[in-house]
Amino acid sequence: MTYNGNPSRNPDVDSRDIAVFTTWTPEETRALGAALAKVLYPGDFVALEGELAAGKTCLVQGMALGLGHTGTVTSPTFTLLHLYEEGRLPLYHFDVYRLTAPEELESLGYEDYFYGDGICVVEWSGLVAAYLPERRLSVSMERVDRSGSGEEAGDGEEGRRIRLTPIGGDGAWRAALLGNLCMASVNQIGDLDRGANEEI
Ligand SMILES: Nc1ncnc2c1ncn2[C@@H]1O[C@H](COP(=O)(O)OP(=O)(O)OP(=O)(O)O)[C@@H](O)[C@H]1O
Ligand SMILES: [Mg+2]
Repeated sequence: MTYNGNPSRNPDVDSRDIAVFTTWTPEETRALGAALAKVLYPGDFVALEGELAAGKTCLVQGMALGLGHTGTVTSPTFTLLHLYEEGRLPLYHFDVYRLTAPEELESLGYEDYFYGDGICVVEWSGLVAAYLPERRLSVSMERVDRSGSGEEAGDGEEGRRIRLTPIGGDGAWRAALLGNLCMASVNQIGDLDRGANEEI
């Protein structure tokens, strides 16, 4: 995994408010998810975006591991919501790809999860944009080609560029979240290198 700092040239995004990582294996994506989960607090909301197979569920698997959930994390596509309750904090995992209309969230009682005491993560969050909490961590994932990157990926594995942008909240919250995440990701990668995550 590499930390790419902030290559954003978007004048609307404060340069301190975005962190970009590149992962080269699903394990590295899970490691980043685990690091992220360790720096989140009750009530935090993560809005995940990225094309099909971008690695969104893979990142959530890492978050569940980082919180200490031991069960498997599968795509909630057919159930819309999976709850993981046995870790440090509950994890509410939505995948809204198959909602026929955003309003369907209301019949799911989404507020208990979007504004609950655990961590809420939503795949395809852009489909329910009007319902997203004002303060959230926006995460976008895209595939990247390893050619020309100077990075080595394992056989058959592809890179993923992962951009994390805290939205809303105050500057102190945004800076602390990204700063803590960078530190946690270094530790998590250390664990990965030492083989501590072999069970993942
Ligand atoms: N660096 C990587 N990070 C994450 N996944 C990777 C990586 N390299 C290869 N993959 C593969 O890409 C796939 C990602 O699948 P995943 O279900 O996480 O995507 P998704 O974004 O949740 O898709 P969907 O939109 O269908 O929910 C997995 O098969 C995984 O093994
Ligand atoms: Mg998925």
